[in-house]
Amino acid sequence: MSLDVRPWVQSDDLSTLLPNELANKLQGSQILAIAAHVARCRAEGRTIANLTIGDFDPSLYPIPSALEQRIVAQLQAGQTNYPPAVGVPELCEAVRSFYDRALGLDYPPGSVQVGSGARPPIYAAFQTVVEPGDVVVYPVPTWNVRYYVYLRQAEGVEIPTRPEDGFMPTAATILPHLGRARMVVLNSPLNPAGTVIDPVLLREICGAIVAENQRRRARGDKPVVLLYDQVYWQLIFPGHEHHTPVGLVPEMAAYTIHIDAISKCWAATGIRVGWAVAPPPLISKMKPLVGHMGAWAARAEQLATAELIQQPEVVEGFLDDFRGQLRARLEQLSRGLKAMAAEGLPVDCLEPQGAIYLSVRFDLQGRTVAGHTVTDGESLRTLLLEEAGVAVVPFTAFGYPDGSGWVRLSVGAISEAEIDGALQRISALLRAG
Ligand SMILES: Cc1ncc(COP(=O)(O)O)c(C=O)c1O
Repeated sequence: MSLDVRPWVQSDDLSTLLPNELANKLQGSQILAIAAHVARCRAEGRTIANLTIGDFDPSLYPIPSALEQRIVAQLQAGQTNYPPAVGVPELCEAVRSFYDRALGLDYPPGSVQVGSGARPPIYAAFQTVVEPGDVVVYPVPTWNVRYYVYLRQAEGVEIPTRPEDGFMPTAATILPHLGRARMVVLNSPLNPAGTVIDPVLLREICGAIVAENQRRRARGDKPVVLLYDQVYWQLIFPGHEHHTPVGLVPEMAAYTIHIDAISKCWAATGIRVGWAVAPPPLISKMKPLVGHMGAWAARAEQLATAELIQQPEVVEGFLDDFRGQLRARLEQLSRGLKAMAAEGLPVDCLEPQGAIYLSVRFDLQGRTVAGHTVTDGESLRTLLLEEAGVAVVPFTAFGYPDGSGWVRLSVGAISEAEIDGALQRISALLRAG
């Protein structure tokens, strides 16, 4: 008979005694709590359109078949041992030639740090650049930047944004903070808003960073570094373009850390291959960090990714279809919601520009609908889920001020038929309200 350890491991005080203060105060993703609510509703047998997840349903959006075949082939070929901490040379080279070919950026060897998705390179960037107490400037709404700022015990300066600017900052809101900043974080296309940064703004921010860094160099101070998270850049829709800081202001090459991954663009969130592209002296410091975490991507997956990156025609074929499907679903949602707005119902949305997200505003603050009084993002989310069977994430989960009515809709795991149903239920709810 085995020893029952429950009496020792389940006592309540362990949760305060065992973890340190940092861990005790670290928040998990708020979206996971919403997922639990969705699961409860589904368990009750209710029809729920789940528009919350920043992930893909593999039955709707499988990874490129060429990637799957190559991963299997690499495993069968015995590629199962440790990869180098910086990434296998084949993938580092493939990323370099990819950035040269697709982004017009010719980086030298030693500029790439591979990780298990984009997160380890982001974490490593914070650890190698930011000191506790340093200022990190980023616009809200933001994906998970706040958690990395917290983990590094840095001071986060959140820049408020407006829907009319696509939830991007403006020069007037961000530039005054550069003097104190050690790191600026920008993300385009933006999770949660699905919007793309305007190159005029990006150039202006980059120009100001370069000027600030010239002054700092003269004083012997450390420069501002720009963490540029572009994990959705290959999912930009026609009419919009992706720009890099370095492409717009070449001197930014010294201060930019690009963050990228196959997770979103190849619908491969569970494959876990991502990378940072940055100056080699910084990459050489990120490398032991990623190594000690063991947060490298699996060797077979790195080699398979390297092979596929070298076949742009195969990747483009996949992307054309994938982008087209995402865009069709986002536009289906946006058309339906705009039609409701045209009828005078209290809802509106931004134009989808890229990624898998739509920013939608429900103008219900202070109103009582179907017995629910909407006082904040959480009560709005609960109303939509409980009464319309539509699961959304309020922008408050991304650090946006409460009471705005803005929510994120994601189309990664939803069929066109489910979207039709969701639109009908939203319309019925708003009419009733
Ligand atoms: C803007 C942004 N950056 C980075 C990531 C992390 O990507 P990965 O799954 O490759 O770690 C995500 C995932 O949702 C994201 O939305």
